[in-house]
Amino acid sequence: MGVDSVAVRAPASSANLGPGFDIFGLALNEPYDVVKATKIGDRELVVKVKGRFSEGVPEKVEENSAGLAAKALLTDFAIKEGVLIEVEKGVKPGMGLGSSAASAVAAVYALNKLFSLNLSRRDLIMFSAQGEKASAGSAHADNVSAALLGGFVIVKPHSYEAQSIEPPNSLALCIAMPDVKPPAKKTGVARSILPRSVSLIRAVHNTSMACWMVASLTNGDVSEFGRAMEDLIVEPRRAKMVPGYSKVKRLALEAGAAGVVISGAGPTMLAVVDKKAVKPEAVAEAMRRGFESAGLASQCFVTSPGKGASTV
Ligand code: HSE
Repeated sequence: MGVDSVAVRAPASSANLGPGFDIFGLALNEPYDVVKATKIGDRELVVKVKGRFSEGVPEKVEENSAGLAAKALLTDFAIKEGVLIEVEKGVKPGMGLGSSAASAVAAVYALNKLFSLNLSRRDLIMFSAQGEKASAGSAHADNVSAALLGGFVIVKPHSYEAQSIEPPNSLALCIAMPDVKPPAKKTGVARSILPRSVSLIRAVHNTSMACWMVASLTNGDVSEFGRAMEDLIVEPRRAKMVPGYSKVKRLALEAGAAGVVISGAGPTMLAVVDKKAVKPEAVAEAMRRGFESAGLASQCFVTSPGKGASTV
C-alpha cells in the first residue's frame, strides 16, 4: 500500500571550496532542513515554510527552491495529484550554506519516495538543481549534489552527474556566518560580478589546485587539501562582498586552519582543519574575532562533513 506522506532531511553544504567553482560541494553534518511532502488530493502544489529560519522565505511555488524543484518533477511525470510541501528551515537562507539546495533536495527526495518513482541519481540531482533557479537564476548542481549524496562531491558540468568521496575523519569544518543582511537573490548578484573569460595561467592554477584537493582528500591528507583551496578566478571578485574577508582568513590561518575560503557565494566563510593537529574551536574563535574587527557579529561553529538526504 502506498504512503500519503514522506518526510526527508537534507543538510547544509558548502560549494566551490576555493578552486572548484560550480564543481565541488561538501555536505555539513548540521544544520539541515526537513521537508514533508503530503498528497492532498486536488491538483494543486502548495508550499508552506516554517521553522527557525523561515522568515522571508517565499511560499510562492515559483519563488521557493523546494516549490520550483517539486513543480519541475511533478510536471515532468505528469502527476495530477495535489501535494503539500512543508519546509522546516534549519539552514539560514542567503548565507552561502546551500539553504535553497537543502530544501530542493529534500523535496525531490520526498516526492521520489511518495510516488515510488525510482529516480536515478542523475535525475534526483537534475530536478533538485531546478530549485536553484529561484535564488541563483541558474541550475548549478554543486550544493544539491552534496546535500543529496553527502561527503565531498565533484560535479560534471552541464550533465547533473556527480561523484562523492567520503572525507577523512580528521577533517573538521569551522563555519563563520557574519550577521549581515544579504542582498535579494544574493547568489545571482554574486554570479553577475564574475569574469566572463579567464587567462590560461589562472585556469591552469585553479585546475591544478582542484586536482590536488581531490588527490589529497583521497589520500586522507587534510593539510594538503586545505593548502590547495586557493582560487584565482572567483574568490578575488567576491571577496569585496564579504566585510572582514582578509582578516578572517589571516586569523584563521594563524590559528592553524589548513585552508580558508568563502563558502559558496558567501558571506559565510569556511575553514578546514586537521583536528589531529589543531583545535578547530580555536580556529572558529579566530574567525569570530576577524569579523568582529570588521565591526560584525558572527555565528561561528565547528562541524564535520555530513551524510546526504535521508527519510526521517
Ligand atoms: N557555485 C555556486 C556559486 C554556489 O558560487 O555561485 C552558490 O551557492
